[in-house]
Amino acid sequence: MQKDLERILFDEATIHRRLDELAARISEDYRDRELTVVAILNGSLILMADLLRRIPLPLKLDCLSVASYHGGTKSVGDLVFRQVSLPDVAGRHILILDDILDSGVTLATIREKLKTARPLSVRICVLLEKKRTRTRAVEPDYVGFEIADEFVVGYGLDYMERYRNLPCIGVLRKELIAQSA
Ligand code: IMP
Ligand code: MG
Repeated sequence: MQKDLERILFDEATIHRRLDELAARISEDYRDRELTVVAILNGSLILMADLLRRIPLPLKLDCLSVASYHGGTKSVGDLVFRQVSLPDVAGRHILILDDILDSGVTLATIREKLKTARPLSVRICVLLEKKRTRTRAVEPDYVGFEIADEFVVGYGLDYMERYRNLPCIGVLRKELIAQSA
């Protein structure tokens, strides 16, 4: 799989070092509040497992499954909730966890939807934040790394459901991305 990468942006050790820092900040910020993490599947699965094990606080974990891409590399904006019932977030401090902030449509839509269920607070944590103009404004509270506007895979991020299990994050070789994407 690594041979499909044009270049590696963050290797496994670099990602884990950054997770140590993020987890320390989150643990400090939530030390007096009971945290509920809402992880967005499938992209945040690997991040969720590695980050949450670094947070030594009592917390609850829920998952939401959404799809926005339909197989290409551009978000099309219409979001499909694959899960019928939303997690019960009323009266809880919510931390939404996602792999990457790109157009902002996914996180803005999810945040809006969760807020209708009256949580006490909602924050957002993403591993990657793409530098670009967003369709929807989203200011994440915790960010692993900022990246340029390039298509990346690995560490949970996929291209047509592949590469999620790469331990590093890298830029996919352009010729592997279908012309129609
Ligand atoms: P947004 O709604 O455009 O912000 O897109 C967010 C979702 O698109 C993420 O949760 C990812 O699943 C996917 N995505 C955005 N950029 C990339 C990328 O560079 N590689 C892989 N998936 C991406
Ligand atoms: Mg995806």
